[in-house]
Amino acid sequence: MYLCHITQLPENGARGFDTESAGQATIFVLRRGDQVRAWRDSCPHHGTPLPWRRDAYFDGTGQHLVCAAHGALFDPLTGVCTLGPCQGDTLTAVPLRIDDDGGLHVDAGDPL
Ligand code: FES
Repeated sequence: MYLCHITQLPENGARGFDTESAGQATIFVLRRGDQVRAWRDSCPHHGTPLPWRRDAYFDGTGQHLVCAAHGALFDPLTGVCTLGPCQGDTLTAVPLRIDDDGGLHVDAGDPL
């Protein structure tokens, strides 16, 4: 499943995608420098989506992902919760493929 071109991700930011026609983002993709990661938009604490508004995945410092429900902070590249009620737990990684033209894809056949 094609998501977007890598240049359509904000630098040092994230963007949510509704890959399951759920009416809200089910995964999100982030870019930090030349690194790209995709995570399920589901907090390991209670399974809620992370952001309080669309695409607001990073905290105010831009260093951590933050869950709006209870404030858990996550390392954006490893997905590990570094502070909060699910400290030590990890976001669920989504397999991502970048094609030769910079297109980002997630395999539709993968369980999401
Ligand atoms: S649901 Fe994310 S910190 Fe509680």
